[in-house]
Amino acid sequence: MSNEQMLADLKANFEHHFGAQPARVFQAPGRVNLIGEHTDYNDGFVLPCAINYKTMVAVTPREDNTVRTVAADYGNETDEFQLDSDIQSHPTQLWSNYIRGVVKHLQLRGFTFKGADLVVVGNVPQGAGLSSSASLEVAIGETFRQLYDLPMTTQDVAVNGQQAENQFVGCQCGIMDQMVSACGEQYKALLLDCRSLHSKLIQMPTDLAVMIINSNVKRGLVDSEYNTRREQCEEAASKLGLKALRDISLEQLREHKSLLSEVVYRRAHHIVSENERTLNAADALEQADYATLSRLMAESHVSMRDDFEITVKPIDYIVEMLSDIIGDKGGVRMTGGGFGGCVVALLPHDMVPLARQALDDKYEANTGYKADVYICTASPGTGEIES
Ligand code: GLA
Repeated sequence: MSNEQMLADLKANFEHHFGAQPARVFQAPGRVNLIGEHTDYNDGFVLPCAINYKTMVAVTPREDNTVRTVAADYGNETDEFQLDSDIQSHPTQLWSNYIRGVVKHLQLRGFTFKGADLVVVGNVPQGAGLSSSASLEVAIGETFRQLYDLPMTTQDVAVNGQQAENQFVGCQCGIMDQMVSACGEQYKALLLDCRSLHSKLIQMPTDLAVMIINSNVKRGLVDSEYNTRREQCEEAASKLGLKALRDISLEQLREHKSLLSEVVYRRAHHIVSENERTLNAADALEQADYATLSRLMAESHVSMRDDFEITVKPIDYIVEMLSDIIGDKGGVRMTGGGFGGCVVALLPHDMVPLARQALDDKYEANTGYKADVYICTASPGTGEIES
């Protein structure tokens, strides 16, 4: 559904539930990561951009302590909680917990504010590795920040969202998704240092399309092996006497191989090599050096497949098929947390039809899954939708 249609439906839905047009509407985008996978929680580097698929929140403030929410994407399920009693998890509705968690963590930061009526809708594909959850967390945080003039930055909104996900929802995600959803900019990718949260905007080349291919192999992050990977990385850092895997070079890692088990060494090898690739890929993108970009994205994929073991067969199939088409004119790799989800390809615009055709001809026949394709533009981070 287009963003315009979604906005119109959202307002109508709000009026239907709450009897008047919403006072304001806010949005926060999903993201695609170009390179730098699982490096964020190792204090490393990532290179994502926000995409033109987003979560929208229509809102009217209330004068009491009640927060009422309608989830348009969940058959208009509703939730209601009070700000003046300890906010607890919802027993059955996972979507509610993202909202409850964000609001609770705003309170834990010491902010006080009144309630709100909210309707939430989104077109970020869910469970696809495009950060629909982070976009929800950031959209809710931004809504309360602006509605009640909370003295915090958009970066704080990102960190608050991550804390809610870590501590309230229970997924030990890093900071990448929330940061780019909060701070992304149009036509720019964000090279983010996940330790300092310093970032550098990198202009996206106009001659390459950003193509996202959803394998439609679904795997929720909370249920996935994501947390195990994180523990293995922490084990590696601790055995190597480091604060984080960010703090070691590939050469040093190789020298200390004997300190780690075979599996943990491979996990660490992915992270340390991926950090290097991410910095080099940011340079290559900036200089329009597509041959280098192509090689780095290919190496990243192999590293995710063999060292980190987070890819699945249908995803590997898409990457192989598209890299045959794209060659060194762009790059292709799995994107996101893994165990399903999406592939990202940067490719010349005139190759897009070829890539689509190849997917149509071969993907389902070879894997049994149907792919969805989204052509994206790097988009602005969270903010109010003027209407
Ligand atoms: C998920 C997490 C991020 C990041 C990626 C993998 O999207 O939410 O913090 O770790 O996986 O790069």
